[in-house]
Amino acid sequence: MTDTAPRATFTRMDQSTKQDWDIIVGSVIDLAHNEVAGQVVKQLETLKSDQGGFAVDRLTHCLQTAHLAEQDGKDEEYIVCALLHDIGDVLAPFNHPDIAAGILKPYVSDANHWMVKHHGTVQGYYYFHHLGMDRNKRDELKDHEFYDHCEEFCAKFDMPSFDPEATTPPLEYYVPLLDAMFGPGGLSSLDAVKDAVQK
Ligand SMILES: [Fe+2]
Ligand SMILES: [Fe+2]
Repeated sequence: MTDTAPRATFTRMDQSTKQDWDIIVGSVIDLAHNEVAGQVVKQLETLKSDQGGFAVDRLTHCLQTAHLAEQDGKDEEYIVCALLHDIGDVLAPFNHPDIAAGILKPYVSDANHWMVKHHGTVQGYYYFHHLGMDRNKRDELKDHEFYDHCEEFCAKFDMPSFDPEATTPPLEYYVPLLDAMFGPGGLSSLDAVKDAVQK
């Protein structure tokens, strides 16, 4: 925001007016359209420095997950979900799926949101038992309508994406998809934004 840009005048929110909120909403939508994709790229880039003991760094894992989803014919929304699914790894190491799910929620289907939000538990089938945990913890989710959607994501794309020898597109390859989802072409109208916020 520039110094001359209009600003709300209230000092307590209970005294705010529609005029104030017209200013704020316009500013927030501008911010969303112009900043979110870039912030997502920056956050994904931070995963490059985190190997976390795995055979590949966390960005490589995300890129391979997205690549496998694309190779399987998944649509662009799904590929973006695959790319972002572990974006919270270095921000919230103990509940990382919540970060990606929170970022994606306004922009994606309920099925894809559920898939990202619960992939940690569903993916746990492949390793929880090595930590003294219940690998079948995911069975508590099994009756959910989107369980199979999430299980497929883990089995086909997330679980196998730790291979230093696998094809790994650069992050730049996915930037147009991020721009399409988070930029002005995504939630383009105020009504679309309102629907997304109230989802
Ligand atoms: Fe994950
Ligand atoms: Fe993952």
